[in-house]
Amino acid sequence: MPRTTVRPVHTVQELRQQVSAWRAAGERIALVPTMGALHAGHMALMTAGRQHADRVVLTIFVNPTQFAPTEDLSRYPRTLEADLAKASAAGADLAFVPDVAEMYPEGFATTVSLTGPALGLETDFRPTHFSGVATVVAKLFIQAAPDVAMFGEKDYQQLQVVTRMARDLDLPLNVIGVPTLREADGLALSSRNVYLSADERAAAPVLYRALNDAAAAITTGTPIAHAVEAARVTVSGAGFDLQYLEARHAQTLAPIQSLAEGPVRLLVAARIGTTRLIDNIAVPS
Ligand code: PAF
Repeated sequence: MPRTTVRPVHTVQELRQQVSAWRAAGERIALVPTMGALHAGHMALMTAGRQHADRVVLTIFVNPTQFAPTEDLSRYPRTLEADLAKASAAGADLAFVPDVAEMYPEGFATTVSLTGPALGLETDFRPTHFSGVATVVAKLFIQAAPDVAMFGEKDYQQLQVVTRMARDLDLPLNVIGVPTLREADGLALSSRNVYLSADERAAAPVLYRALNDAAAAITTGTPIAHAVEAARVTVSGAGFDLQYLEARHAQTLAPIQSLAEGPVRLLVAARIGTTRLIDNIAVPS
């Protein structure tokens, strides 16, 4: 494991001091918000951040407000030392690692309320999730004042929610989506993949294959509704408990019926065993 060199800071004040010093020296800042348990997908976010800025600020905060009471916040993996070593290897300059009291001080009473791309999909299954995400991300944007912020396309709805929020609240930064990293068989990288049994792992690439087959069918003229229905049948037939598999407008995430209406994104969420997987792809037009 590489030696830990990235500097962790725990308070907003320390974060602002460092960022101000970089800014005074004319440097651009990239923010990479995470909840830790870093894997290659997070490393790709830091690498992309480095391409857009002089300094990369990683944040590690397991945000309680985006977990429902039924989702076990206490079981979320916390691997700070390993994360800091990985952040160093990926070239991060600073790690902001606040505790809950720093982010949500006594009496905290403000949340970001969302419509638009937050409607449906994940929200149908995790109704309070994006409000928690948007609130903590808005705080991180204000605290770190970055020029750019990097988000994985793997959480595509999150990317659109955060992009819309930054635009709507006039937050002066660019939100940049970073393409999903995949295993050789197409399975999107996720910290949850480790929970898959051997049989579940073997079945998991069906999600990506079904999305690709649907995208190819739509591109060659199959009506979206038919292609999506065929993909749902494939995913359910492979032993998944399908939560949604939908075609949406790639930016607004509004339902979409044809390629003529705009860029199309296909998004899926499904459970296999006890593990919930999500994935998405663009439909070439
Ligand atoms: O994608 C995540 O890890 C989290 O939702 C984020 C953006 C760090 C907010 O807590």
